[in-house]
Amino acid sequence: MNSISVKVINQLKDNYSFILSNRSKDACVIDPADSYPIIEYVNKYSLKIKDIFITHHHKDHTAGTEGILKNFPNVNIHSPSSHIEYTRFVLRNDDEIETAINTFKIISTPGHTLDHIIYLDNSHKILFCGDTLFRLGCGRVFEGDLKQMFASLQKINELDDNLKVYCGHEYTLNNLKFLESILNKKELFFNIRQKIEEELRLSKKSVPFNLIEEKSYNLFLNQNSEIGSLIKKELGLNNFDLFQHLREKKDNF
Ligand SMILES: [Fe+2]
Repeated sequence: MNSISVKVINQLKDNYSFILSNRSKDACVIDPADSYPIIEYVNKYSLKIKDIFITHHHKDHTAGTEGILKNFPNVNIHSPSSHIEYTRFVLRNDDEIETAINTFKIISTPGHTLDHIIYLDNSHKILFCGDTLFRLGCGRVFEGDLKQMFASLQKINELDDNLKVYCGHEYTLNNLKFLESILNKKELFFNIRQKIEEELRLSKKSVPFNLIEEKSYNLFLNQNSEIGSLIKKELGLNNFDLFQHLREKKDNF
């Protein structure tokens, strides 16, 4: 298996885009919001962008496509919808796409938007989940309903523990504060807070993160963890009810 590297690029206020590249200097970009920092990076390392992959139609995940196309006119643009500007290939659940550098499996995750898809590379153990899952949180449910979002997060919860996850926004600290305050059990999150604060201190980023850790701490993702079981018992809620309770509270946090 060829090794690939993933560069996390700051975009706009708190968005992330990602540039994957290999030793042959082929590259692909996930969710470009602003083309300038992306082009700057690829020029610096003489990378050739071959593909763009988009998770959903929100502008803060797509607006950089035009600028990249100006520099790389032959780039293939993959997205979940022909309504997303410049899309050449529409992707569906279970599709497998071979890029110049890896293979992505497409998983449909409606909820945040109806068109939302995520990109799984099982060989390299990396997952690009857009605005479906955030570290210690999940996306707002704008277009789908809570049942859909719950089911989409369950799909992620069933994936390999060893995945490294790249999400679309840096919302981690706010998500942590929410869980600490809503559950009134700060001590349960002591260890993860230490870890996240250290990551933010060193790199100003808390992305990527490990799926196994999310399964322990992210109650939007997994309600069967030790913490989840404790909270469910205390509040007398089942898995979906706990998810709904948290999502509704978070919308007004
Ligand atoms: Fe979004």
